[in-house]
Amino acid sequence: MTTVTTTATATVPLPVLSAGVRVPLADGGDAEYAALDYAASAPALRQVWDDIAAYAPYYGSVHRGAGHLSQLSTRLFEESRETVARFLGCRPGDSVVFTRSTTDSLNLLAAVTPAGTRVFVFETEHHAALLPWRGHDVTYLAAPRSPEEAVRTAEDALRSAPAGPKLLCVTGASNVTGELWPVRELAAAAHRHGARIVLDAAQLAPHRAVDIARLDVDWVAFSGHKLYAPFGSGVLAGRADWLGSAEPYLAGGGASRAVSRRTDGGLDVEWAPDESRHEAGSPNVIGAYAIASACRALTTAGFDQLAAHEDHLLTRLRTGLAELPAVRPLSLFGPDAARVPVVSFTVSGWDSAEFARALSERYGIGVRSGLFCAHPLVRTLLGDDTADCDGGPQAIRASFGAGTPTSHIDRLLAATAELTHP
Ligand SMILES: Cc1ncc(COP(=O)(O)O)c(C=O)c1O
Repeated sequence: MTTVTTTATATVPLPVLSAGVRVPLADGGDAEYAALDYAASAPALRQVWDDIAAYAPYYGSVHRGAGHLSQLSTRLFEESRETVARFLGCRPGDSVVFTRSTTDSLNLLAAVTPAGTRVFVFETEHHAALLPWRGHDVTYLAAPRSPEEAVRTAEDALRSAPAGPKLLCVTGASNVTGELWPVRELAAAAHRHGARIVLDAAQLAPHRAVDIARLDVDWVAFSGHKLYAPFGSGVLAGRADWLGSAEPYLAGGGASRAVSRRTDGGLDVEWAPDESRHEAGSPNVIGAYAIASACRALTTAGFDQLAAHEDHLLTRLRTGLAELPAVRPLSLFGPDAARVPVVSFTVSGWDSAEFARALSERYGIGVRSGLFCAHPLVRTLLGDDTADCDGGPQAIRASFGAGTPTSHIDRLLAATAELTHP
């Protein structure tokens, strides 16, 4: 760990803890860290940290314990659930389950999806949305080249599927290109054909209002650590019926309401009828409270204001990169597609991992390189058909958000220009 200066006060909609952190450079100097990897894990909001610090002395067990701090922690945990429900515009009767992450949420939904359900998922998804359904009958939909084609592709597949329960899994914003998917239209198509739809909002929720009722999706999944609340919690919210009728995701205390010995020596178990059914063990109250704090902070800042700030930086970055002939941006829907602040690109003459390392070691800029846990999509965008996971080309990704100052974008542009014209 290196020093944190408390004087970094660039104007941003929501201050984050990484502001002012200085990191070592390869030449022996140091630089203020430019955190441009929000899509992997966003820095914590200062407000989230302050809320957690204020609560920490009062920390106690949840749903057990008669002591005052246990009662207070239980209330805070349940109030956090209500805050998340409001943030997501949940319908009456919807469940909000606290999980570990988006990956955990989608695996939970896969575990409670009734046997015989046919699942439809675009091959362009993050692996967290692509892989959990493998115990079901899955149809992988080909990469669409426009939002309209995405809707047509889903609709055609759903229309020609045999009768029976169906589930469509879609992403709200790509973790590779930042491009927005036509969620409302996909939800309408799903429902027209008797299917349900789950929205992977891991990259959408930090940047746009996600309203379950308005989008008319059946479930939403997101992660706290991408929503400026990195304390180990995520959310699955939506229809209660599949969640309430399936076996618990994890068996144990909290998920069970009553357990009794049978005369034949076995056990009778009555599972909890509500969200606790899928929250076995001691819940992560700090994680849940952190998410609720982030939801409040984002709502107070207002998504219109956040999007205006991020769009300004996004245009600056994309325009600047377009002026560098060595840079090739990756896009599925084309340059004019609406997007959140996630930009992936390659740099000719550079290995992507080496380029990302150079940004870190020479300029103190943190980006990501690789295939971003979306191997089929990135390979499609790179025009690469190698089957080897370890070999083949990769890409570089810069991503940012509510705590990013203009100076970080300008440093990335200046560094990229310098590295491509040494
Ligand atoms: C679109 C998308 N979905 C799901 C995930 C998985 O999130 P987590 O690693 O928090 O489970 C990610 C993570 O990068 C993502 O970008």
